[in-house]
Amino acid sequence: MFDYGSGVDVRHSLLTPHSSLIKMNTYHLTNTQQDIEKAAAILRDGGLVAMPTETVYGLAADALNGEAVRRIFEAKGRPMDNPLIVHVADFSDIERLQLVAEIPKKAIKLAEAFWPGPLTIIMKKGSVIPDEVSAGLDTVAIRIPSHPDAHRLMEVSGLALAAPSANTSGKPSPTTAQHVIDDIDGKIEAVLDGGACSVGVESTVITLVADTPRILRPGIITREEIEAVIGPVDVDKAVLNQLESNEKASSPGMKYKHYAPKARVVLLRGEDEKYISFINRKYARDNSIAAMCYDEDKPQINAPCITIGSMDDEKAQAQALFDALRAVDEIGGVKTVYAHCPAVTGVGMALYNRLIRAAAFEIIDLPTKRIIGLTGQTGAGKSEVARLLKESGLPVVSADEAARKAVEGSEVKAMLCATFGDVLKEDGSLDRRLLAQLAFSSPGRTSVLNAITHPAIARIMFDEAEQLDGDTVVFDASQLFESGEDAFCDRIIGILADPELRLDRITRRDGITCEEAQRRMSAQYHEEFFITFCDDILYNNGSAEELYTSVKELYERLVSG
Ligand code: TXA
Ligand code: MG
Repeated sequence: MFDYGSGVDVRHSLLTPHSSLIKMNTYHLTNTQQDIEKAAAILRDGGLVAMPTETVYGLAADALNGEAVRRIFEAKGRPMDNPLIVHVADFSDIERLQLVAEIPKKAIKLAEAFWPGPLTIIMKKGSVIPDEVSAGLDTVAIRIPSHPDAHRLMEVSGLALAAPSANTSGKPSPTTAQHVIDDIDGKIEAVLDGGACSVGVESTVITLVADTPRILRPGIITREEIEAVIGPVDVDKAVLNQLESNEKASSPGMKYKHYAPKARVVLLRGEDEKYISFINRKYARDNSIAAMCYDEDKPQINAPCITIGSMDDEKAQAQALFDALRAVDEIGGVKTVYAHCPAVTGVGMALYNRLIRAAAFEIIDLPTKRIIGLTGQTGAGKSEVARLLKESGLPVVSADEAARKAVEGSEVKAMLCATFGDVLKEDGSLDRRLLAQLAFSSPGRTSVLNAITHPAIARIMFDEAEQLDGDTVVFDASQLFESGEDAFCDRIIGILADPELRLDRITRRDGITCEEAQRRMSAQYHEEFFITFCDDILYNNGSAEELYTSVKELYERLVSG
């Protein structure tokens, strides 16, 4: 029996059922001959060793030992219905160990082109494969990694190794030995430290058990590269989309939330300038946000940045991605991180696939139009400015009109009823008066109302904006900031006026008392706020002619950029 050295009795823990619950010493091994032999002995004895591969660290066990494999699931907290990849050192091992029922011709072609390397091929399984490995499926995933340490470990041990990524289930895959330690120290016998992984995202997974070969998980070996070798290849729906709850995942791993830091991740899809301005506007008012972006974005971004490499170097981005996702939680106080959304072609598909899962499929499309936000204090004359801008030829989208449409949407109505009780009239339309009474009775209730309606209003406004002619659209929105629409604006114009004037205008316009008017005025942001966060301020303290002249000037500035 191999001597593991001093410390805990590893064998004892191996023989104990649910042994991963017992905290053990995890050996930190390097790639010396002696350490590789030690790791191989642990594996032969049914133990677990985290090993480097060129993609990510894998948590290895003897693939033909069901009991050993079961411990992988315990150490990772991995659902038992998620099958594992079997790693071998050489193509001949697949036949020698009878891992698959048959080797399709396309597998041979793929192996010649891409093995050893970051490609996993799914084939019909051989009868030696334990159910723990295939999670009860009749297929098995096989890969020959190119990392020299993984190779030596398989050669020295003589084993086929079942190995999922060596992270705690749900966390980003580990690309360094330290990541492994951070996640599962004390739950496995050893980590073989082979330095940082060069690829950084997990292997491309392709199934040949289908009429047309199908990519179940994209990696740095791209669809285009594979098609050049074996002809047409499909991409499984789950690669780029969220499956409905009743849809079955071809690759069980694709149905779980994955790669997620504690902070919320949101993907922003759109032009680079829009991405940068969104982040800067958000950060100006909320310092709990951060950006996950390209090197080229960073100099222009005011928020804390986690960069994942140059825009043009997708391989560098792949290498940095998981480390970046882990780094999010290391920046203190970050609640939301906005990631610059990659394209979905080439290696970008792999990046998108991981990021969209880290984001739990939350993605925001940035507007393609130039958006001019028009806002200001009640009674200051914003609507009049909107009218004049429209007359000059700029299309205007009104938040008030969008709000009227939004509250008639069935989803919004259902949410309003769930929150405020039955606020519908007999004909099913919204009883606005009743809703207003209920929702404006306290600031807390008002913000609940806003949380329900603002996203729907914004959606309607952005949809309308995209459909209008021309490349510039004015958003007429008194609640531009409260709704978060400010972050989408290229310029923000604030209309202000002296309080006495506004009081006078509101009481006359709406036929309300001074107290009511004052209550409305004090519920809004103060002048200072608008001065700080708007790009242009227009004071409307004079005559209609004066306002007309200022708006003309404003218009000229807007159309000249
Ligand atoms: O690069 C990699 O592939 C890394 C290194 C360690 O090799 N391994 C890895 O394993 O990422 P894991 O378990 O984290 O991801 C394997 C994925 C899962 O989504 C799993 O559902 C899928 O492959 N998979 C495994 N066997 C399968 C099968 N028979 N049919 C369908 N999907 C399978
Ligand atoms: Mg994994």
